[in-house]
Amino acid sequence: MSHVLRLAIVDPNDATRDNLKSTLLGMDMVWLEAECSRYEFFSDVVDQTHPDIALVNLDSDPKKALTLMGELRSTSPECAILVVSSSTDGQLILQSMRAGAKEFLTQPLGVEELVGALERIGSQRTNKKGGKTRSCKMIAICGSTGGVGTTSLAVNLGCALAMNPVNTVALVDLDLSLGDADVFLDAIPDYTLVDVAQNITRLDFTLLKRSLTKHSSGLYLLPRPVQLQDTALVTAEDLQRVFGLLKATFSHLIIDCSKGYNALDMVALESSTHVLLVTQLDLPCLRNVVRLMMSFDEYDKLKEKVKIVVNRVGLGNGQISLKKAQETVGSEIYWQLPNDYRVMVEVRNNGVPLVEQAPRAGITQSIIALGDSLCGVEERSKSEEEEPASKKAGWLGFLGSKTKK
Ligand SMILES: Nc1ncnc2c1ncn2[C@@H]1O[C@H](COP(=O)(O)OP(=O)(O)O)[C@@H](O)[C@H]1O
Ligand SMILES: [Mg+2]
Repeated sequence: MSHVLRLAIVDPNDATRDNLKSTLLGMDMVWLEAECSRYEFFSDVVDQTHPDIALVNLDSDPKKALTLMGELRSTSPECAILVVSSSTDGQLILQSMRAGAKEFLTQPLGVEELVGALERIGSQRTNKKGGKTRSCKMIAICGSTGGVGTTSLAVNLGCALAMNPVNTVALVDLDLSLGDADVFLDAIPDYTLVDVAQNITRLDFTLLKRSLTKHSSGLYLLPRPVQLQDTALVTAEDLQRVFGLLKATFSHLIIDCSKGYNALDMVALESSTHVLLVTQLDLPCLRNVVRLMMSFDEYDKLKEKVKIVVNRVGLGNGQISLKKAQETVGSEIYWQLPNDYRVMVEVRNNGVPLVEQAPRAGITQSIIALGDSLCGVEERSKSEEEEPASKKAGWLGFLGSKTKK
């Protein structure tokens, strides 16, 4: 997590400061370095803690706050100032900008605006340092027919990525009627996608994480609704917002799509960094791959994100050869997952992911390698090198304590 922004807050009002804190504490992109209730003491706090961002709430005493900002500009010029206020007075905004504010946000704070401001500040900082900005890798997994192994891949890829301590990974089960990601993880969730989607405007990052079920592998699960009738309660717009919030909170987001290719599935496919289209080597599956690829052509920038994953290679049973399959679909086959009936039945029936039940199995290794191929193994070792061990432990400790249920 070398791109986490370290932040210090000053706000003499306890209630608004606590509100801000609870929003910020749940965000993976932010580390709350210090908080302060007096404008007079804040430049010392900044001087001692060297945060990337000083968040100043003007409302208690705008004059004092503006003086403080002037001070910060000369004593800690590297620290970006983010102003929060319930006022929309143009004069005040202008004065704040002149005093050195990089961003001005109005209360009540919308999480999307906050994330936008933090990302702008973050990217300015990393550009200065010649680094890269932190962004979420979202991987949608869809299938060419029922039973091809979409959920098996989604769950096990999610757990494989979550085993790396620098990653924070969430899995959303978008098969709203018959999804079974919770069964694969032997999880009994308290909340579902419907609860999160319906409360999206009221959720902050901490509450969001509490609404997900954390598996022992580290993977967070957002399952499908319990009642069939509830599936209609999730709109494409809600889902877009849920993804926005999850993307800001997690380093990796895995979506187990339904086979309906409905409006919600399309939101997932369009929002994703990668789309894995799982197929097997039989004619009905391959024919659907061709049809799906043709339909994806109608969507902006979708087809180039799609990677074909052939599952159950080596099954026999008159499977079509890989060469013939490649010719039929007319696109490159990105990955091959071996057939392993015994291990796959075992993990499904026990509700234990491959990385825990059969870490050395070929299918497990292939899924781990797929994760590395999609998300870059170099990135992992680089951030591990960059981050001192003590800071890493603190960061994980923080996550653990915030998310325990
Ligand atoms: N590589 C594999 N080898 C053997 N069996 C597999 C493999 N991948 C998936 N399966 C089995 O296929 C069945 C369907 O998989 P599932 O992931 O539920 O498919 P989908 O989500 O596409 O409907 C499950 O019983 C699973 O154990
Ligand atoms: Mg499934």
